[in-house]
Amino acid sequence: MCFPALRFLPLALLALLPLVLPAQPVVNLVIDAAAPGKPISPDLVGVFFEDINYSADGGLYAELIQNRSFEYTATEQLTWNAFSFWELVNRGGKGSAAIDIAKPVHPNNPHAVVVMVKEPGEGGFGIANSGFDGIPVKTGAKYDVSFFARQCHMDHPWDANATIEGKPMPVTVRLETKDGASLGEASFEVVGYEWQHLTATITATGSDESARFVLLAKKIGAIALDEISLFPRETFRNRPNGLRPDLAQIIADLHPKFVRFPGGCVAHGNGLGNIYRWKDTLGPVEQRKGQLNLWGYHQSVGLGYHEYFQFCEDIGAKPLPVLAAGVSCQNSAHTPGHGQQCLPLADMPAYIQDVLDLVEYANGPVTSTWGARRAAAGHPAPFGLKYLGIGNEDHITPGFQERFQMIFDAVRKAHPEIVVIGTVGPAPRGPDYDKGWAIANELKIPMVDEHYYEKPEWFWSNLARYDTYDRAKSQVYLGEWASRGNALRNAIAEAAYLTALERNADVVPLASYAPLLAKRGHTQWNPDLIYFTNTAVYPTINYFVQQLFSVNSGDTYLPTTLAPVATPADAAASAVRDSRTGDLILKIVNGANTAKPFHIALDGAKNLPPRATKTVLAGPDADAVNKDGQPSPTQPQTSPFPIAPAFDYEAPANSLTVIRIPSR
Ligand code: AHR
Repeated sequence: MCFPALRFLPLALLALLPLVLPAQPVVNLVIDAAAPGKPISPDLVGVFFEDINYSADGGLYAELIQNRSFEYTATEQLTWNAFSFWELVNRGGKGSAAIDIAKPVHPNNPHAVVVMVKEPGEGGFGIANSGFDGIPVKTGAKYDVSFFARQCHMDHPWDANATIEGKPMPVTVRLETKDGASLGEASFEVVGYEWQHLTATITATGSDESARFVLLAKKIGAIALDEISLFPRETFRNRPNGLRPDLAQIIADLHPKFVRFPGGCVAHGNGLGNIYRWKDTLGPVEQRKGQLNLWGYHQSVGLGYHEYFQFCEDIGAKPLPVLAAGVSCQNSAHTPGHGQQCLPLADMPAYIQDVLDLVEYANGPVTSTWGARRAAAGHPAPFGLKYLGIGNEDHITPGFQERFQMIFDAVRKAHPEIVVIGTVGPAPRGPDYDKGWAIANELKIPMVDEHYYEKPEWFWSNLARYDTYDRAKSQVYLGEWASRGNALRNAIAEAAYLTALERNADVVPLASYAPLLAKRGHTQWNPDLIYFTNTAVYPTINYFVQQLFSVNSGDTYLPTTLAPVATPADAAASAVRDSRTGDLILKIVNGANTAKPFHIALDGAKNLPPRATKTVLAGPDADAVNKDGQPSPTQPQTSPFPIAPAFDYEAPANSLTVIRIPSR
């Protein structure tokens, strides 16, 4: 038995707690709003796109058929072969299929499938594909089917009288539910022994998140098939061979100022034969040269360099391609040899020409060889390439240095207008960092690419990292960074670091969180900024931090002081002015688990409007994370906010607050 009064004792103690805990000291945030300020990069926040985690094939690239050109191999995954993700379909008949290399559609795409029908039965015999974990089909949506086909000369020992020589082969393509119910179909005739390109559009009569594509040949005989494609008619900005609209849109909604592509390690590849060759990714898709993706799957390069440039233009972002520096990834595990491999010096002139040709493809006039190729792809106007990355966190070896310098010298000579971005290793310190910076200083490289994935505490402890960087030396592109988690505490540490990057955006003009996309069930690297399935998109809390800094960027940094600040810091702030709008933008970060009072002074501010907008990203639980298939538990909330030359603001625990003060 216990005294009734004692039952309430814990509650009473709780009520006393604020009296016994030391109150959070008021943090004084002073902004010199009358100062001319320091010019900073308005392009600080961009995105890093790499085909990792099925980001491209099965992700951003809208193609719905997996292994459409029968080029999958056991080098990509031991259990794979040219017929992987296809299966035979028998609708009352008999037949078989085989992979053929005798007469390819294009030498870059050597394999085709030959379907032989011995008995067509009632419904025919053929092949089916379930896409990337099923094909999402929506009622009323249009799907463009296309494939290459030709008849094959055959002996027909099983029925000498039924030969179809000289007669067309009827083919039906159906979208089907798992149970075989039709969601729409189209009919074709394959005629003759040369490749034909056949196309049709199917309007879906039903929905299924996990449909399959079925192609049935309906008479005795044989046909070869290749580059079998099913593309949703609706792509981002309706580009042919385009991008999945919801995924492209969520990237567009970040308003990234630049897009880095195609990697990451994908750029320098798994061994010399796997270096990403941009020229192999141009032109009609059946002529492109797909290859092993270093992350252990196949890259069709249907999303190729032209599509990357087009996407950048479509979302108003500057393109930032990264090419290998004539060496492969240091983690290469492919023959011949392991680790970083260097292109033979004899191959370097041709390699360097490829680099120069890329600049011409992007920027050259239509009268130039590669400018003409761009125009032929439907884009006569230049793409306005300004940045070019050479190398990706390579080991800084003599072999690397020699090749990097050859490329760098050639680009500088031919294209002094291009900002070449060098590389300083995979970490914020260490031998590659030191040697990379030594080369940058020696060659006077305009910018170098720093990479680091660290814990949230590291970011809080390193807010001053760039304050002392020598402004006379190379600028920094923070090309890959993340705080190793998708919890609120990670996102808030990243927000604090972004205030420091803004303060230093005169010497760090570009920064991109990495990686960008990850398909659930195929995630090879955590954390990522956006997770997705075939039908849904899940931005993380970290995404909202990047977005808040991107849409609230400025081009002038105003002197800002914050005191007192703990060691390591648990509060951070920045103040920028956006000259396009005249708006003054404050970012206030509280990394503590309790609310923090700020006294904010806008010294010298003139003509303040009565009201600003306040956007807060905060949550009660610093460990909150959007778990599998769930939307982020924490989303930014925007509301009007009264403003004065000096005011008090209590920043919620674990929060980022953006106060945007419009000019009068
Ligand atoms: O972002 C994932 C990988 O991290 C990149 O491919 C590589 O550059 C880095 O090691």
